[in-house]
Amino acid sequence: MAILSPSILSADYMHFHEDMDRTKADGAKWLHVDIMDGHFVPNLSFGYSWVKSMRKITDLVLDVHLMIDTPIKYAEEFCKAGADYLTIHVEADTPENIQKTLELIRSLGVKPGIVVKPNTPAQAIAQYLPMVDLVLVMTVEPGFGGQKFMAHMMPKLKELRTMLDEVNPACHLEVDGGVDLTTAEVCKANGADVLVAGSAFYGAADRPAFVKTIEA
Ligand code: DX5
Ligand code: ZN
Repeated sequence: MAILSPSILSADYMHFHEDMDRTKADGAKWLHVDIMDGHFVPNLSFGYSWVKSMRKITDLVLDVHLMIDTPIKYAEEFCKAGADYLTIHVEADTPENIQKTLELIRSLGVKPGIVVKPNTPAQAIAQYLPMVDLVLVMTVEPGFGGQKFMAHMMPKLKELRTMLDEVNPACHLEVDGGVDLTTAEVCKANGADVLVAGSAFYGAADRPAFVKTIEA
């Protein structure tokens, strides 16, 4: 069964608490939290104080996606803030530091994840697959919600599902960017089991039905 992870980046920040509560009432179990630093991606979003405040008001699974350079500097704070999953970009640091960051996240009792941008091949994360609980394949260039889904990422998604089946079959395989009810089906058919959706979910006329369709 698939899981929907609504991306709160698309929520109304003046009604943030209300939007989070409504997301839960809609039937979602996860919440995708996009952290951007203005360097790794050309946009800014939340810091760890947001995650800390979110943790206080919700028991949704906080699926935190770090789009920041040198995540080793910030990972501990995000773990302490209450992330359930903490996902870092393979492009954001040296292989040595990426490995150390994943180990640090695990040692703090949080589930580590690794993410690839569209131009990064599956092989770039092969060495980390046995040590993570989530692999994220970007289906847009990270930085902004509301972009067009890149269907040509599907072979990479499928390749990663095959690689995971060999070394870490329990690991989640997530997609992020341009996911709607139609593209979600394509992602599921290629091995994704966690689907991030921002604009399509928060813009849906019937959000409970959206959750049910994705998780069917
Ligand atoms: C993009 C973010 C996504 C974004 C998805 O950099 O990582 O999580 O919120 O938004 P949609 O679903 O609108 O493409
Ligand atoms: Zn994201």
